[in-house]
Amino acid sequence: MSKAAGDAVHVPVMLNEVVQALGAAEGGMFLDCTFGGGGHTKGLLDANPNNMVVALDRDSRAIERGRRWAGRYGERLELIHSPFSGAAQAVSLHVFDGILADLGMSTDQLMEGRGFSFADQEALDMRMDESEGQTAADFVNSAPEREIFLALAEGGVGKNARAIARTLVFHRPFKSAIELADAIKGSQLGKRRVSKVHPATVVFQALRMRINNELGEIERLMESAPAVVKPGGKLAIITFHSVEDQAVANRMRKWESAGSYPANWRGNRAEKRIGRVVNRKAIVPTEEEISRNPASRSARLRVFQFESNL
Ligand SMILES: C[S@@+](CC[C@H](N)C(=O)[O-])C[C@H]1O[C@@H](n2cnc3c(N)ncnc32)[C@H](O)[C@@H]1O
Repeated sequence: MSKAAGDAVHVPVMLNEVVQALGAAEGGMFLDCTFGGGGHTKGLLDANPNNMVVALDRDSRAIERGRRWAGRYGERLELIHSPFSGAAQAVSLHVFDGILADLGMSTDQLMEGRGFSFADQEALDMRMDESEGQTAADFVNSAPEREIFLALAEGGVGKNARAIARTLVFHRPFKSAIELADAIKGSQLGKRRVSKVHPATVVFQALRMRINNELGEIERLMESAPAVVKPGGKLAIITFHSVEDQAVANRMRKWESAGSYPANWRGNRAEKRIGRVVNRKAIVPTEEEISRNPASRSARLRVFQFESNL
């Protein structure tokens, strides 16, 4: 379908790989947990004229943007404003042949002046769901230094987490993302950086993960996924951060070994493995995709197939 006014600018990552991994050309019912600009949703719908998609996003702006064109697909597409941690409740009695989660934020969110980008002069918000929770400004300007340190450490900032937390507390309060980025860039760590990635990039990512409880959301999604997938169905997850990739890989490996897990949509538990890891190594974008869409460079796709006799 062609791009219409009001369409999102986000470019879906590893679109063909996702459509193929979920077997969308064969037809089925899919859950897109992270609708965003709707690129993956469209790819899944276009792969087979009988496909149906239920798509969730915790960001109401993404859902509103999607509603402008969702009508083209009639009843084949349902959009729901919900975090994916609430997927099991949000989708009621549907069960899916394939589930996708493309984690992190969209290019649209980055460009909306909400404090996700270093360049934002007005906001330091970073909430994906603007209707609830603490903003990044509230957190950075009032949390004890130790809490900021823990958020940075959990978000993968590494050995500089303590020094950066101290810098932030020294320079606060911050009103905008640009002020926060400047404080990090102006610090000793910003000046003598060793890695190619600027410390402010990693700090912004860690703060965003904390503000949106992103690791907790992934844990809850993976808790509930087996309950909403059909026997033989697949779960595909794209991450952009090594901490998240490890959480996904570990959970999938655990599902593959014997254990006790929720194993079908009635919530019965299985005392055995519940499926198999489809790709031992994460699937990554091709060089061609990375040069066309540099935002895809750190993406990792992992796929799990649930047993057909759960
Ligand atoms: C990388 S974008 C997805 C892009 C999308 N696949 C596309 O092709 O346009 C991530 C989206 O997931 C949403 N999101 C992130 N965490 C979420 C969560 N826990 N629950 C629901 N949506 C979430 C964000 O608001 C954002 O719109």
